[in-house]
Amino acid sequence: MRVGKDLIWHQVSSRTWYNRYLLEFLICKELINPKTILSFGCSTGEECATLQQHFPDAKITGCDINPDVLRIAKQRYPEFEFLYSDNQSLNGNKFEAIFAMNVFHRNTKSCEGLPKYERAFFDNQIIYLQSLMCKMGYLILYASDFTDPPGCRLLRTYGKLAIYEISI
Ligand SMILES: C[S@@+](CC[C@H](N)C(=O)[O-])C[C@H]1O[C@@H](n2cnc3c(N)ncnc32)[C@H](O)[C@@H]1O
Repeated sequence: MRVGKDLIWHQVSSRTWYNRYLLEFLICKELINPKTILSFGCSTGEECATLQQHFPDAKITGCDINPDVLRIAKQRYPEFEFLYSDNQSLNGNKFEAIFAMNVFHRNTKSCEGLPKYERAFFDNQIIYLQSLMCKMGYLILYASDFTDPPGCRLLRTYGKLAIYEISI
């Protein structure tokens, strides 16, 4: 398992592109109107730019575990805040919505060599993300290996997209 500073990588691929989730974000927009958004596993930042297009009034923050992609994201999109994905950097922040698109899975070729994705690890990560959320918040998962995150109420699915409501 690739671990950096005690952090575990959900997956190692950094594949992303602008407007990757055109339909999915339109569906999200019908249901939610968050003013603070975290793109968890933002890679080089294109997801933040796409989210801003769909949620023009929201403050968008990106975070990733890979310092190399974060460096590129900061250069390409200086208008957003980008944080390293550890407790220290993220704590104190509260978000109305957290998007984790193509992050919680190990079913692609790029994840060969990584051990099987453990349920307990996924649950712990979701509980951690909940600690970064406002009292009422939304968790949006795309292509997650698990589709029943603890403490979440399913609002809508569309293909690999799932939108959950969380009230703490
Ligand atoms: C396939 S990319 C997806 C990028 C973007 N979300 C998209 O869907 O286009 C997965 C990203 O998740 C990041 N990642 C993996 N483990 C992570 C963790 N523990 N915390 C934050 N990001 C992580 C990877 O570094 C990578 O940039």
